[in-house]
Amino acid sequence: MLSKVLSCALTGIDGYFVDVETDVSRGLPGFDIVGLPDSAVKESRERVRTAINNSGFNFPIKRITVNLAPANTRKEGPAFDLPMAVAILICIDEIKNESVEDTVIMGELSLDGTVKAINGVLPMIHNAYKAGIKKCIVPFENGEEAALIDGIEVIGIRNLKELVEHLTIKKLKPIKVCVDEIFKNENMKYNYDFSDVKGQENVKRALEIAAAGMHNVLMIGPPGSGKTMMAKRLPSILPDLTFKESIEITKIYSVAGLLKDKNSLITKRPFREPHHTISNSAMVGGGRIPKPGEVSLSHNGVLFLDELPEFQRNVLEELRQPLEDRQVTISRVNATMTFPANLMAVASMNPCKCGYYGYSDKCRCTINEVSKYRGKISGPLLDRLDIQVEASAVDYEELNSSKKAESSADIKKRVIQAQNIQKERYKNENIYFNSQLSASQIEKYCTLGKSEIKLLEIAFEKLDLSARAYHKILKIARTIADLSDSKHIHNEHIAEAVQLRNLDRKFIY
Ligand SMILES: Nc1ncnc2c1ncn2[C@@H]1O[C@H](COP(=O)(O)OP(=O)(O)OP(=O)(O)O)[C@@H](O)[C@H]1O
Ligand SMILES: [Mg+2]
Ligand SMILES: [Zn+2]
Repeated sequence: MLSKVLSCALTGIDGYFVDVETDVSRGLPGFDIVGLPDSAVKESRERVRTAINNSGFNFPIKRITVNLAPANTRKEGPAFDLPMAVAILICIDEIKNESVEDTVIMGELSLDGTVKAINGVLPMIHNAYKAGIKKCIVPFENGEEAALIDGIEVIGIRNLKELVEHLTIKKLKPIKVCVDEIFKNENMKYNYDFSDVKGQENVKRALEIAAAGMHNVLMIGPPGSGKTMMAKRLPSILPDLTFKESIEITKIYSVAGLLKDKNSLITKRPFREPHHTISNSAMVGGGRIPKPGEVSLSHNGVLFLDELPEFQRNVLEELRQPLEDRQVTISRVNATMTFPANLMAVASMNPCKCGYYGYSDKCRCTINEVSKYRGKISGPLLDRLDIQVEASAVDYEELNSSKKAESSADIKKRVIQAQNIQKERYKNENIYFNSQLSASQIEKYCTLGKSEIKLLEIAFEKLDLSARAYHKILKIARTIADLSDSKHIHNEHIAEAVQLRNLDRKFIY
């Protein structure tokens, strides 16, 4: 007898349908799976057989063939256990095929018939919903995750026996979650606030500008100047996540298997701070079956690269592509996958290896050593860090002052306003922020008056700026103008922007 059950698989963070076609016929007993299964899928045979027997059914001692269609894509992981078991139970008349029509089924089985949680449920259910499927059966632990997609009935299953009962005698209640409530209650509760940071007005201002135009930032300063402290507070001045962004992030975390409790919607902007010993594949994504890396886990949020020169050179070089394209493409023999990586990068570094060049007599580094240390960050990477700002040591008086600094909430208001101006301006372009402006778009949107052109010329001569600084300065000046709600870029905006290209200048200390 032949049966067909609908299931799902993943490519990148997108789900696609897989038909689990099963034939049970007379002949030499055996159990074959075809349709490019990987080893975990092949191992399903033992789990399915034992789980069926241990759930009180008789596994047929016949010739069983399972085809996973489409047959030309590689199937991985244990999520096909449950649909295969259902398909076999249909073939031996324990379940009617009609009872699972138009229903997507996924889940891993353990030997006693328990259904175990799997990764990637949210994107797969999202795909099913978009394709018009109305019902799904998932592991109970993934139930709330699946129910984040409104408009599809979610049945959460604890074990195989329960599933058979659900399909034959007693229907289980669908799982429901109140998405609006989770979203509103949880959204944007940060433990860190800029009001804790004393002094450092220039750095805070730079971070505000960075947030407003989604520019990547590099902070340079001696140890203890608060670089890490300030970077951690960046998400608190970015706009609240929208529901759409939240689902995008949750999908990535679902695929990476990083959803806590398997049911949480990610409602905070990610803040990721990978250690500098991180490998290439952990940073940009990879593995035999590609999984998202830190750049994708920072999607719609902040990637903090603390002690930038300490990262391996090849890891830093690999970062260039995602920072440029805002997505990562990983090619493997079996498949090419794309993960989103629309992030804001914030990096920090000391001025030299010992940390004190230009700040204290403690530093014994030679000019050569300093150059070598800075040279670890290549020009092309530096190019992607629009803003470079100096964080000098805070003095004792400032640290001790009881004056409360401006709160994140107040800064955030200005950031949102500036971002809204950009969205409106670029509504007919394929970009949202000033940092995304291409060379031709800069010509169109960052026009200067005579006196501004003159100022920029002087700045170039006096400070010996490199050619690549030119476009950066214009983009940043555009953001600064937006923050002060100015239609045109004026001298004061350019002057401030020039200050934010620290490393383009000659050694100034
Ligand atoms: N501007 C500041 N206002 C209040 N506290 C500060 C400030 N700067 C530093 N601190 C205090 O000093 C601690 C160390 O700062 P932080 O770790 O951010 O320095 P850093 O610049 O990252 O140093 P390193 O280069 O060693 O990583 C902070 O946790 C904080 O308690
Ligand atoms: Mg630090
Ligand atoms: Zn030094």
